[in-house]
Amino acid sequence: MTTDLVVRRLLIDLEADIPRRWCGGDAFRTALFNALSMSFPLGEQFFIDSLRAGMKQLPDDQRERFAKEVQGFIGQEATHRRIHGLFNAHLDKQGFTNAWEKRIEKRTPIFDEVDARHLVAATAATEHFTAILAEWMLRNTWALDDAEPRLRTMWMWHASEESEHRSTAFDVYQALGGNHEWRVKWFKNVTVLFITDVTRQTLRNLWDDGALFSLKTWRSAWTYLFGKCGLVRETYGPWKAYLREDFHPRQQDDQLSRDWLQANAAQFSVVGK
Ligand SMILES: [Fe+2]
Ligand SMILES: [Fe+2]
Repeated sequence: MTTDLVVRRLLIDLEADIPRRWCGGDAFRTALFNALSMSFPLGEQFFIDSLRAGMKQLPDDQRERFAKEVQGFIGQEATHRRIHGLFNAHLDKQGFTNAWEKRIEKRTPIFDEVDARHLVAATAATEHFTAILAEWMLRNTWALDDAEPRLRTMWMWHASEESEHRSTAFDVYQALGGNHEWRVKWFKNVTVLFITDVTRQTLRNLWDDGALFSLKTWRSAWTYLFGKCGLVRETYGPWKAYLREDFHPRQQDDQLSRDWLQANAAQFSVVGK
């Protein structure tokens, strides 16, 4: 089974300035979202390169089977990179330091000579992270309700597409004959790296924003991460599901993503249509 993926161009203006604490004036939420965005241009390029390398290594019939879906995946990630690049340029202007990007830059060469299955496994693992984060965001819209409307649209669109293409890298990994052992090994590595990187960059952003030592910041962090519908609390189960041998990303429902894309069709144009 393959997924039909379309590329959507967002119809929002990202040239105009953005407020410093664009997420409802909340320093913590803004810092966390900014941190994620800082990793996207290079991170998503890595996903694109990995799937291209994976496709080359596939037998002809499988390559044909995945051609359209992978093309859609690459188109979606390329659009995300571009939009987040524009967004990140504002952060740059506001004086934030993107240290996460430099760490990705240093790490990527270790993949140069390895079997493509390692790249695709690392991509599938990170895509699981983005998918569960996306599903949580689509379910907990309160976290972005008070955000600047253009940016709320940007995040919801990105979340919807992450949920939509959640199985592409996973399916390519399976088609490459990737095994469970390495899939889990990469997932554990990615988990440690991702949590360390996102924490470091969020702290850095709070420092640059002058909000690191404010009680209000840490109250918001607690609610957002560990509160009743908190991110960590609600994504632990879906995170753990990836370790199961019979796991498949399609077992996780994408109804909210489909609903958002349908209800917000006026916010984007479909490329090639
Ligand atoms: Fe993306
Ligand atoms: Fe993705």
